[in-house]
Amino acid sequence: MSERYYAEIVGTGHAVPERILTNFDLEKMVDTSDEWIVSRTGIRERHIADENTYASTLGTKAAISAMEMAGIGADDLELILVATVTPDMPFPSTAAIIQKNLNAPKTAVMDISAGCTGFIYGLSIVDSYIKTGIFKTVLLLGVEVLSKITDWTDRSTCILFGDGAGAVIIRATLERKGILGTYIKGDGRLGGLLMMPGGGSQNPASKESVDGRLHYLKMSGNEVFKFAVQAMGEASTTILEQTGLKAEEIGTLVPHQANIRIIQATAKRLHIPPEKVYVNIDRYGNTSSASIPIALDEIRSNGNYKAASPLLLVAFGAGFTWGSAAITW
Ligand code: UT7
Repeated sequence: MSERYYAEIVGTGHAVPERILTNFDLEKMVDTSDEWIVSRTGIRERHIADENTYASTLGTKAAISAMEMAGIGADDLELILVATVTPDMPFPSTAAIIQKNLNAPKTAVMDISAGCTGFIYGLSIVDSYIKTGIFKTVLLLGVEVLSKITDWTDRSTCILFGDGAGAVIIRATLERKGILGTYIKGDGRLGGLLMMPGGGSQNPASKESVDGRLHYLKMSGNEVFKFAVQAMGEASTTILEQTGLKAEEIGTLVPHQANIRIIQATAKRLHIPPEKVYVNIDRYGNTSSASIPIALDEIRSNGNYKAASPLLLVAFGAGFTWGSAAITW
């Protein structure tokens, strides 16, 4: 009988830009208030990249930390997979740019576009490659520099987003641990609720596209909110059913950090108490595909991290996409 592999996270890392933009800074830029932002979203501050910082800059830093924790070198990597909607450029892929920065010439490289669910999609892809024996050591990143596609005159979106990168090293193991299951879904009919219409083959960059502000993120916040609560709940209960885990067995719920009210609604639906729910949205805002791997690195750097296991990861995002994963350390 052939060997059965499981995919284990053996290293984590994250990187955020130094510059912090607080709600009080935003009060000077648009008609908003710290009180409104905190009560509606849970966000107090976010990190914002300078003009010389790109997705690959943050991704490379996060990758180096994750490789150090895993005790591996760039030569050990077989695949670099980057989840992002804010790549350095349409092509080459940000994975290829990070590969060059890391000097990891033996790897396959690819980007995936699944909005804020990108990291969960990535876990699902990596899990399949490892289970089938195609790759044994993979670098998976969620990397976003959303500040570069944010309309800083639109108060309904500019208060929400932040920049950052999270990385994990995933290795094949013969022990039953690591990724216990993944679940991914999409519904393109809802794509118009959250999009950046400019810069692709439909609306290539032109004077008209820039004048029309098509290169900024557009969102129908209220509709996205309602969808998110339903999708996060559905994805969480599906992965519990699929893996046979019970909600009370979950050590830590790691939800995509989009809005504290969405996080609380998800935890409530699962009857998971607040002390088991990981929240860092107050410090980072919504970093899209980076939010879950940043949280994983923060959890892992706590000496008692094994007590946090098993973890239920759940996200939703542009596409629309949604998904979940159950993992152990
Ligand atoms: O990763 C996926 C990305 N997207 C999301 O997760 C977004 C999900 N949606 C949300 O988080 C929420 O819908 C928002 C935080 C974006 C908005 O909260 P809301 O409770 O849905 O507010 P709303 O859009 O219904 O707006 C309520 C009021 C409006 O004023 P009126 O029409 O009632 O007078 C808005 O104009 O709040 C106003 N408003 C603001 N006021 C102060 C909207 N943005 C702001 C602001 N400061 N920044």
